[in-house]
Amino acid sequence: MLDLLTRPVAAAVADRLNVAPTQVAGLFAPPAKGFAADLALPCFQLAKAAGKAPPALATDLAAFLPTVIPGLTATAVGPFCNLSFAAGNVAQALLPALAEPTAALRSSAGAGRTAAIDFSSPNIAKHLAFHHIRSTMLGNALAHCYQAAGWKTVRINFLGDWGTAFGRLISGWKREGLTLDQLRAADDQVTFLNALYVRASQAAKGDAALEDDARRWSKKLEDGDAEARHLWQIFKDASLAEFQRVYALLGVTFDSWKGEAYYEDKMGPILAELADKNLTSEDQGATIVDLPKLVGKQFKKPALIKRADGGTLYATRDLAACDDRMREFAADRALYVVDLGQSLHFTEWFAVAKLLNRPFAGNLRHVGFGVVLMWNDEPGEGLEPGWAKGRTRAGKVMLLREVLEEAIDRAAVIVREKNPDLDAAEQATIARQVGIGAVVFNDLKNGRTNDVKFKFEDALRFDGETGPYLQFAHARLCSIERKANVGDLAGDPALLTSDHEKNVLLAIAKLQNALERTVEADEPSLLAAALLNLAGEIAVWLTSGNSNLDARVLCLDAAQSAARLRLVRAARGALGEGLRLLGLAAPERM
Ligand code: ARG
Repeated sequence: MLDLLTRPVAAAVADRLNVAPTQVAGLFAPPAKGFAADLALPCFQLAKAAGKAPPALATDLAAFLPTVIPGLTATAVGPFCNLSFAAGNVAQALLPALAEPTAALRSSAGAGRTAAIDFSSPNIAKHLAFHHIRSTMLGNALAHCYQAAGWKTVRINFLGDWGTAFGRLISGWKREGLTLDQLRAADDQVTFLNALYVRASQAAKGDAALEDDARRWSKKLEDGDAEARHLWQIFKDASLAEFQRVYALLGVTFDSWKGEAYYEDKMGPILAELADKNLTSEDQGATIVDLPKLVGKQFKKPALIKRADGGTLYATRDLAACDDRMREFAADRALYVVDLGQSLHFTEWFAVAKLLNRPFAGNLRHVGFGVVLMWNDEPGEGLEPGWAKGRTRAGKVMLLREVLEEAIDRAAVIVREKNPDLDAAEQATIARQVGIGAVVFNDLKNGRTNDVKFKFEDALRFDGETGPYLQFAHARLCSIERKANVGDLAGDPALLTSDHEKNVLLAIAKLQNALERTVEADEPSLLAAALLNLAGEIAVWLTSGNSNLDARVLCLDAAQSAARLRLVRAARGALGEGLRLLGLAAPERM
């Protein structure tokens, strides 16, 4: 979008230096810190074509460009030519392109390509814990951003619905003679299953017969025994119902739910192919791929493909699932939004995919992330308050649903206080949007590989780098639009002559590039930062009207008001769409 502004400059420079405009177009960059300019043109590359030193070319262009581009100010700063555009010209170049409210956050960079995005992917018979927010909301934001950048996306929840835990659960269920009605009567079926698991493990401690029984059920489940499968399905359905409650709160959906169990009987071809290509060897009865030997010393140990007892493994299931995905969705890129703790797992099986000569092996991306630390002010006897890994005061794991609900409750207090005139239902809706927005944005604003710190008070602030701050800027623009009364007067961009207005427009125009970089680096924090920048410029602009009535959007001059309202609409549309892409709601009042 910024190219609408730079295109005439690029054309003029290209003409003067006798190079193709495309050689200039990609060079524009933000000015060095401390320089009050809109953009800089680095002259290093162009200096060759001009037969001049970069600083000499910068000086030449600084003198030349203002003579051909009306309203442009240019200053040479060493090898850079800094550019400042006239506000009205910026508005004339950009506003017409922003008529569609989402236009600022669209790109065709990924047109014709498909991304398969594996995210959230929790293990069943356990709750979504607070830390699941990371994979769930990073993946959700990336899916939105890929789509906005032109990609087709497939959202995959690769449920962890396989493993030895189920043998123990079934064994416990049978021993206690539990019934489906008892499970269904539980407030929270996952809690019921967790408690069953704990009782079953405790009972089996030192009881060889019970240990055996659990193993027997595991084996039966693997062999497809009807009763074992039936109970497993019941446990899975109970978990899914609980997961869906949380996904509904977060507004997250999936296109595919094929989990690990689905691939359980589909690994034969992979194992056969590995053997055929002489890629496997035996190690104490287990089947391995000797990565240190076959790939190199960057691998310290072989990848385990099949256990000595014949059981298959996580890595093997991921390989089979990947083949299936690439086939089913014809994906060009596959993302795995999974914590950094699993890096080795992905490095290993990506390497095996490469050994298998999979054409997509170079397009597999482990989108890793750090842990969430939660502020714990009452850690218990003898402990200092501090940042802890998602534990409640009592030391149990903090559930994602509990954190969301507490954030909503806390937001409700603020929303009621700020909007006493709204009815209770509206207040509740806004509290939900703000509470969840606070938790989600806190997670997305930092580079994903960093650890995230979460503290309710900080995440819910209306000022600072928070979700509510962005949402508030959006609501403020909506409120101006509600009060506006200019009929169908068309706003004239040429009337937007203040630097505040220009800066809002430039912040909007930078969103498209932020979106593209977000997709290329799988890094939603880049979009988050660009939105914070936009909200900051909006605040400066709107606040400038506090002390100066003429600077207000709704001022006495109707033509001026109409022009400013066009900018209000463009900013509101861009901010609203940015919030949506990150997975936050954009309330119209707060
Ligand atoms: N279920 C796994 C876990 O909770 C995450 C799965 C991630 N996706 C994958 N394809 N391995 O640790």
